[in-house]
Amino acid sequence: MKTSFYKLAALAGITMLTVMTAEAAETTSPQLPVPAAAQLCTSCHGAQGQGIDIIGPRLAGLSADYISNQLALFHAGKRQNPTMLAMAATVQGDNIAVVAQYFSQQPVADIPLQFRGDKVGISDPFETLAFQGDWSRTIPACVSCHGPSAVGGGQFPRLAGQQASYLKTQLLAWQEGSRTGDADNMMGNIALKLTAAEIDGLSQFFANIK
Ligand code: HEC
Ligand code: HEC
Repeated sequence: MKTSFYKLAALAGITMLTVMTAEAAETTSPQLPVPAAAQLCTSCHGAQGQGIDIIGPRLAGLSADYISNQLALFHAGKRQNPTMLAMAATVQGDNIAVVAQYFSQQPVADIPLQFRGDKVGISDPFETLAFQGDWSRTIPACVSCHGPSAVGGGQFPRLAGQQASYLKTQLLAWQEGSRTGDADNMMGNIALKLTAAEIDGLSQFFANIK
């Protein structure tokens, strides 16, 4: 039991050990208590931030820095989803760090990492874009920022296993100009170069990495 817990914590790359009690360490699926400020969030994002399809994307697997920054972007009106705008408004001050920390500590499935250099001569066009990009259109490989198998890190969100419908909405939001605030418009510039078919294909491709 103990071994599997430590393995899980190590895989998630988190500092849960510091907050675990001896009792919780005996369970295979440690669940931290949901802080008061995050209670409301769980109705759409799931108790462990695992996401509820169509209703709310997965938050587990995103870094605390990324989650805090996105809440700030909702507060600033740089992300404009009406439902989430109202929800973000309920989290202010110190509670931003509390909810960001909670969701970033939730477990996500461990997946085999595939690196850019391992993936040459791919036949699937979306997998090619993901791992190699398209230099004729100056589109860099998605994994060059989003990490091997797009597991994310820091301000680069995890795409692997995220809901396809959510990924698609975000790429369209950048195209329409309703999502901004990413540093140097780095993601916005890329989204603008994608065709509708590529947005569909890439969203599906990343959602299926699990
Ligand atoms: C009523 C449903 C609902 C509730 C409750 C809710 N959210 Fe959301 N959340 C959403 C939806 C829908 C989106 C996608 C928004 C979009 O398309 O831009 C979202 C997106 C997000 C994102 C962006 C994720 C990413 O990958 O960039 C974060 C962070 C987030 N929510 C945090 C929270 C927090 C923290 C709370 C609790 C205070 C909360 N949400 C409560 C529905 C909800
Ligand atoms: C130059 C670095 C870079 C590259 C290359 C890149 N991205 Fe991103 N991407 C980002 C950053 C940074 C964000 C977070 C933006 C923010 O903070 O709002 C992001 C966010 C996203 C999101 C939103 C995820 C969420 O949880 O809300 C999607 C979807 C996405 N990228 C898809 C792609 C796809 C598909 C590709 C390849 C065609 C790609 N990205 C290539 C930097 C990059």
